[in-house]
Amino acid sequence: MKVGLNSNLDMLKFKNLAKEREKAIDSSFIDPIKYEYKVNKLVEVFHPKKIRVVVDKIKQETIDTKTFILKSKDKEELPPFKAGQYIVLDVKLNQVVYKRPYSISSSIKDTTKYEITIKRVRNGLISNYMLNEVKEGMEFIIHGPFGEFNYQPLRDKENILALVGGSGITPIMSMARSIKDKALDCNLTILYGEKSEKELIFKKELDELNKNCDQISVNYVLSEEESNIYETGLIDKSLIMKYDIGAYSYFVCGPTMFYHHLNNIFKELDIPNKYIRHDFYKNEEPMLKHEEHYLTVITDDKEIKIPCYEDETLMEAMEKNGIEAPQKCLIGVCGFCRSKLINGKVKTDVDYVRVSDKNHNYIHPCVSYPLSDVTIKLCK
Ligand code: FES
Repeated sequence: MKVGLNSNLDMLKFKNLAKEREKAIDSSFIDPIKYEYKVNKLVEVFHPKKIRVVVDKIKQETIDTKTFILKSKDKEELPPFKAGQYIVLDVKLNQVVYKRPYSISSSIKDTTKYEITIKRVRNGLISNYMLNEVKEGMEFIIHGPFGEFNYQPLRDKENILALVGGSGITPIMSMARSIKDKALDCNLTILYGEKSEKELIFKKELDELNKNCDQISVNYVLSEEESNIYETGLIDKSLIMKYDIGAYSYFVCGPTMFYHHLNNIFKELDIPNKYIRHDFYKNEEPMLKHEEHYLTVITDDKEIKIPCYEDETLMEAMEKNGIEAPQKCLIGVCGFCRSKLINGKVKTDVDYVRVSDKNHNYIHPCVSYPLSDVTIKLCK
């Protein structure tokens, strides 16, 4: 009886609260906060929409990988970032601005520069341009830093098992360098998979970190080379169990296939999603061999029809045709490109699309492939 009375009183309080809240909302500003408000100036300092940078230095890491050291064109310091975050680089080619997310590989301690490390992608327009054409002194626009692929003590365990495929080492390198600089406090065990020893990026520095830093352990896994020193084969269930001493959060970074492969292993090992962070990338450009469809893109003021192949994402088709759609991560995580599917069928290669998005026909063009002619409405 007593419980019932209390819950009725609670309901009454809640009803009154809802009325109060509506009154507060009615009396609030409807105009956006003007630029001159101090808080907006502060936001602009930490998160400028565009940053002009210059390529200060280029380092050859492996035969097909280079690190580009970017410095601000206008200021001493760049905005602070978290180890594991990425920036979006604008690359203008043939009058089209291509936007590419690249993880920062440098330490969070030094914000006078961002280092991004780029590996050549087979047939990749932008990676080939970056590796072949870009020289020291060239200028670019970048955006960010962005991303949730970073260690957060309240959410993650302090022991991290980083499962890395190929150039997925870049955000993990930022974590390792930050730990060494005492700017990040966690224990990092790295399982770094590559085809052969000569393709391992940052090998010399990783070996030094392994030797001299108690919080870091580095283990190489070579898939196409026999070795008595390193693990060989693929990063699989038995290898994860060998290095997983428990109490770990798992940070996965590598190509799309690698992400799917590990997701299956995590399911077999019953590892809850809350302990898994992931970041992945496409390591080859679409071959445009599969069936061609048409993509109709509706924006506020126009409707554009362009060709789109079954093995390219809707975002890639739009980009190629000069349609600037909102985008950041290009892996279906940030939600920035979220668009309404008006008609047609698409498939996606990620399994973390929100149920509410599915129910209301929203898709992420950056990870959606056409299965028929498709019409989407961009949400800006
Ligand atoms: S660009 Fe981030 S979800 Fe598509």
